Amino acid sequence: MKLKEQLNILIAQALAKASIDTTPQSVSESTKPEFGDYQFNGIMPLAKPLGRNPREIAAEVAGHIDCTTLIEKVEIAGPGFINIHLRREACAKMAEDMLHSDRLGIEPGEKPCRIIVDYSGPNMAKEMHVGHLRSTIIGDTLARLAEFLGHEVIRQNHIGDWGTQFGMLIAYLEEQDISSGVDLRNLEQFYKDAKKRFDESEIFADKAREYVVKIQSGDTHCLGLWQKFIDISLGHCEEVYDKLSVTLTKNDVKAESFYNDMLPKVIEQLDNSGVLEVSQGAKCVFVDGSEIPLIIQKGDGGYLYATTDLAALWYRSGELRADRILYVVDARQGDHFKQVFSIARSSGLVKEDIKLEHIAFGTMMDKSGKPFKTRDGGTVKLIELLDEAVSRAKTSIKEHENKSPETIEELARIIGIGAVKYSDLSINRESNYIFDWDKMLSLDGNTSLYMQYGYARIMSILDKHEGEIEMKISAQSDTEAKLLTALLKFDDVLHKAFTDSTPHTVTGYLYELVTLFMRFYESSPILRDDVPHETRHSRLSLALLTSRVIRQGLDILGIEVVNRI
Ligand code: ARG
Repeated sequence: MKLKEQLNILIAQALAKASIDTTPQSVSESTKPEFGDYQFNGIMPLAKPLGRNPREIAAEVAGHIDCTTLIEKVEIAGPGFINIHLRREACAKMAEDMLHSDRLGIEPGEKPCRIIVDYSGPNMAKEMHVGHLRSTIIGDTLARLAEFLGHEVIRQNHIGDWGTQFGMLIAYLEEQDISSGVDLRNLEQFYKDAKKRFDESEIFADKAREYVVKIQSGDTHCLGLWQKFIDISLGHCEEVYDKLSVTLTKNDVKAESFYNDMLPKVIEQLDNSGVLEVSQGAKCVFVDGSEIPLIIQKGDGGYLYATTDLAALWYRSGELRADRILYVVDARQGDHFKQVFSIARSSGLVKEDIKLEHIAFGTMMDKSGKPFKTRDGGTVKLIELLDEAVSRAKTSIKEHENKSPETIEELARIIGIGAVKYSDLSINRESNYIFDWDKMLSLDGNTSLYMQYGYARIMSILDKHEGEIEMKISAQSDTEAKLLTALLKFDDVLHKAFTDSTPHTVTGYLYELVTLFMRFYESSPILRDDVPHETRHSRLSLALLTSRVIRQGLDILGIEVVNRI
């Protein structure tokens, strides 16, 4: 049930009745309660071309709005706004329908798309560090959201498993294996040691270079070593995914190496379509408006990151038949994607109607506004950051509660991981993001703990009530009515978050919802003896629906809830 859509239809009908021909415009949520629930701001731009006073047009259109079912009344305000007040009974009925539906009344769209979400994509040479956190969390949310809205989602983990560093790493792996038995538990250290060997010894460096050529030409011994290394490295990533409850699995891995055999064909296609040029021995493409060409194949025959991405686009369009591809990758790769998308289109590597989007996000900063690093300036390992989140959450629980060690363990995991995820998802993804432990683990404000706490609070109310809840809603007071209209917005919110790829649309909504619930609960007792039966059940129904919306909303963000905090 998309409330906004229904209102838009009523407005469009009224505009047609007033013989005003205009492109469709949407109603928006009111900023102030006295304005009603929604507002239509689409009249002002019409006034000039029509040569009429906007208030006069607004009055005429308002006169044609159907106020029999959903809308109670409309009012003209300001220079020509139409304020819309909803009928409480109609709202109550819609909320009851939500309660009776497993999917909270949100129907899968009529036209499901096949959407590829390319996210996480760590490089296998090192362990996952904080730089991969945002892509992993945002991408997972967008995948879950699209799936919930009925689309077919294909997750793609475009891991970096190919390139010159691997020659060095497997040469070192082999050396270690022979002498001592290898310790890859600390990949970071392993990388540093291999690099040291590479810089120190000319013989080792030559061997590393030789191994790069060998892997690329399919040498079985080298490929075996390489595979061993990748398996261990991927194991590290899976540990992180597991801790984060991220939905990526082994089956979603389509590594850079997967596209290796397709690269010559990509070059051929680019050549046939006439976009390829040779400049100083390298094969490149000049993209419109850019003086620097994109190199596709180096003079020595080597391919680049962009070549693999072109092959991936070809595969995703042709084999996987995607309608839309979301690349959840750092904003600093903006130019790369602009060029790659443009070349893929102009050379016909992708079908024409495919939608390609770079879902860019900003950098993770520390409290002082500098890129997030360890105290000695190194990169922060993701696994350590997540463990710290859980241990900080544990400390705060221990201070307050007398709980069993297992309960504390489980709670700390849910609260700590939820906090890391929520604080990332709740800001506009394109801005840089300040990582602040105190803020993210706080109970006040737009945090996961506030949502989890709100949820647990509702569960304890529902728990105390004995017997079935009669799912009948009659919102009488102002705070009840506000909670009711907020609940009805859920469908619109999810669709907006999906269209714009903005998880913060969901978090902002949940924050508003929980805040409205708290206000409602302060002013509207539920279980007190003097509350009449009907009112109690209406309020219980509102509480139940609120809890279900919170749980579903958090689930889309990949965040768990508990019944007791
Ligand atoms: N491995 C890349 C990096 O760490 C991210 C991969 C993103 N996906 C892609 N298709 N290029 O920067």
